[in-house]
Amino acid sequence: MTVTAETLATIDLTDNDRYAEAVPYADFDLLRREDPVHWHPERDGPGFWAVTRHDDVVAVSRDTAVYSSQFGATALEDLAPDALAARRSMIDTDPPEHTRLRRLLTADFTRRQVAGYGDRVRDTVRAVLDTALPHTTFDLVERVATAIPIRVLCQILGVPQDDEALLIELGDRMIANTDPDLAEVLLDSPASDAYRLLPFRSPAALDMHAYSRRLHDRRRVAPRGDLVSRLATAGLTGQEEDAMFLLLIVAGNETTRSALSLGVQAFLEHPGEWERLRERPDLLDSAVEEVLRWTTPLHHFRRTATRDAVLRGRRIRAGDKVVVWYTSANRDEAVFKDPYAFDVGRYPNPQIAFGRGGPHRCLGEHLARLEIRTVLAELLRRGVRLEAAGPAARIRSNFTNGLKRLPVRVVA
Ligand code: HEM
Repeated sequence: MTVTAETLATIDLTDNDRYAEAVPYADFDLLRREDPVHWHPERDGPGFWAVTRHDDVVAVSRDTAVYSSQFGATALEDLAPDALAARRSMIDTDPPEHTRLRRLLTADFTRRQVAGYGDRVRDTVRAVLDTALPHTTFDLVERVATAIPIRVLCQILGVPQDDEALLIELGDRMIANTDPDLAEVLLDSPASDAYRLLPFRSPAALDMHAYSRRLHDRRRVAPRGDLVSRLATAGLTGQEEDAMFLLLIVAGNETTRSALSLGVQAFLEHPGEWERLRERPDLLDSAVEEVLRWTTPLHHFRRTATRDAVLRGRRIRAGDKVVVWYTSANRDEAVFKDPYAFDVGRYPNPQIAFGRGGPHRCLGEHLARLEIRTVLAELLRRGVRLEAAGPAARIRSNFTNGLKRLPVRVVA
């Protein structure tokens, strides 16, 4: 074995402990350079192809006929047919099934529709900051980054504000299912077998489904103008309704929270970029794109090959797992000049945090951008400067790139 082959063989992208420390960027750099479509063995599975270059991630995302989201779903975990069926949500479908479900949501999340949420998002951000900033020293994850996305989402879905805390808790327990601080049953523990028919193998999904059931039943009887009312009267099966509700809450909540908290952390570590933005507020839109590239709140999604194929010279076999790593694509030196520089003026910036190139491209991308932009704009408007007030804590997960804690101090 050559030195490079030996080093490549030691890379373990599934080791959640490493992500609790830091994103393993050096491994991704090596993979992009030496073996961009890399066969990665798994301790408890058949192994997968790790796709790490930007153009290959786009190509795989685009080709839904060969790289299916439905065949084996989109998580790394291997699911038996009964679990696949029980857990399937829109994100785990291919066209035409996917087209039917996505059509029900598109109108609520277009660029134009989301622009119409601007005032509501601004009011929400202002209310949250009004509560957080007087504390002078506080946990930005808890008081700001967690509070905003769920409130905005609940308004769009038509979920009562009183239930926000419950949905945050359930969402956290599900998506951070490899972090003992957040989940009571860990994905890689034998105890999770009892929950294998539930999304994320998490008992919290039972509570989320029960909540969804009650809300849809109420809205069916007395519809309002909100999204859940429309879904409740769209002729979906109960499984489809619950899976869609759970997907929207989980996808729209944790991801934006991570972009906000890791985004603020990026400015704490690059105070010059905050000053630059203060002097050049016209850079706000490019700053949002850079925050998205820099933070990449979801590390990967999985596809499954429907037939034999060739990707960058590697022979993929029908049934192989193919994992696209957005985290790596967003540091691809072939696409981004000086990818490890946090540059609020970066242009062009074809960041891929929302996926790119296929029908599954993030439904909530305009909403997420609006929330990030509004938080940055509101902090600038108030002349706020923050500094770190203690060590941050990262979520132990190779799927969600997030923080559990970010202590900050208001210095101006
Ligand atoms: C910074 C925040 C966000 C990030 C980084 C993000 C990232 C992603 C990614 C990577 C995908 C998968 C793309 C693919 O498979 O090709 C996705 C899909 C999705 N996202 Fe987001 N997302 C964010 C915010 C949101 C928000 C606010 C919502 C609110 C509704 C949302 C709803 C969804 C849904 C429903 C899907 C599935 C789309 C489909 O299967 O057609 N996301 N997101």
